[in-house]
Amino acid sequence: MRAHRVTSNMAVGCPSALPTLLFFVPLLLWLVDPTLGYKPVIMVHGLFDSSASFKQLVEFINESHPGTNISVIDLFDHKASLQPLWKQVMGFREAIYPIMQNAGSEGVHLLCYSQGGLICRGLLETIPDHNVDTFISLSSPQMGQYGDTDYLRYLFPTYVKSNLYRFCYTQYGQTYSICNFWNDPHHHDMYINVSDFLAPINSERPEPNTTEWRQNFLRLRKLVLIGGPSDGVITPWESSHFAFFDENEKVVEMQEQQVYEDDTFGLRTLDKRGGISVYSVPGVVHTMWHSNKTVYKECIEKWLT
Ligand SMILES: *[C@@H]1O[C@H](CO)[C@@H](O)[C@H](O)[C@H]1NC(C)=O
Ligand SMILES: *[C@@H]1O[C@H](CO)[C@@H](O)[C@H](O)[C@H]1NC(C)=O
Ligand SMILES: *[C@@H]1O[C@H](CO)[C@@H](O)[C@H](O)[C@H]1NC(C)=O
Ligand SMILES: *[C@@H]1O[C@H](CO)[C@@H](O)[C@H](O)[C@H]1NC(C)=O
Ligand SMILES: *[C@@H]1O[C@H](CO)[C@@H](O)[C@H](O)[C@H]1NC(C)=O
Repeated sequence: MRAHRVTSNMAVGCPSALPTLLFFVPLLLWLVDPTLGYKPVIMVHGLFDSSASFKQLVEFINESHPGTNISVIDLFDHKASLQPLWKQVMGFREAIYPIMQNAGSEGVHLLCYSQGGLICRGLLETIPDHNVDTFISLSSPQMGQYGDTDYLRYLFPTYVKSNLYRFCYTQYGQTYSICNFWNDPHHHDMYINVSDFLAPINSERPEPNTTEWRQNFLRLRKLVLIGGPSDGVITPWESSHFAFFDENEKVVEMQEQQVYEDDTFGLRTLDKRGGISVYSVPGVVHTMWHSNKTVYKECIEKWLT
């Protein structure tokens, strides 16, 4: 009886009280803890890099989204970043899994640069209960690499891109991270047979865990692909958008890639449900992607909520 009267009093005497209150609840919570609403961000660096390369990016995030809990994982730095990618996936997983668990149902964002973007794909596919909301892939060779770069000349001075397959597509070669995603379009069969990392995570070569990896990958809500023509390292640069060379070294778009058409690891499904955003940014060289404020403002900021 009494409960009923109270309810009707409220409805008659103050019709707008409840909506007004509901409107202010998020604001009140925000005043108590301004970080509410910003998911934790986890960052994974690239080849020959360390956590230090994200200094600017951490500042950009701190400025626009104050209080965001950012974890820059400091593992496999510098030369250690040449270790096999599966080994790095296992190492990063140990560091990142507890952060995911702390975040609980709220989830986390993954922001991974260059080679780190492949490590993050490995994580997304092999952690069955990951809670990654948005994966930002910052100039990562998602479909592999085929090009002469300073990195290659430094590492393998006696090889050029046309013959590096002789080294990379061997068991010994596959102990180098770079060879794990070396994708020579003129030796595709060898790549499929020998690539220890990219061919399996792309499910270009069937693995016992293919179905499970696809399910895990599709827990992702949003994939943001960032790259551009002035990159100078990732070759073709469109690999950052899941495009790659055909046997004539002509770039074939993501939607025409076999892995997309056959939906081998979930890329097409994710795209069809509106889960992929692609940014093509001119004027950014490879080593500047994480330190360019325009890139942050235009391609990254709005996804880190
Ligand atoms: C983030 O910004 C706050 C306030 O401007 C500052 O005190 C703090 O040192 C900054 N932290 C980082 C990691 O930049
Ligand atoms: C930030 O995240 C780390 C890893 O989950 C956690 O240990 C730490 O307590 C968090 N810091 C804050 C201030 O919430
Ligand atoms: C592959 O699946 C098996 C069986 O479910 C599991 O034990 C193993 O850890 C999985 N490997 C990877 C790399 O996910
Ligand atoms: C790839 O492996 C298959 C099966 O082991 C073999 O028949 C084929 O010759 C290999 N191809 C190349 C180019 O190594
Ligand atoms: C930053 O990015 C913009 C494009 O968003 C580009 O025009 C500019 O040259 C870049 N600056 C540097 C220093 O990389």
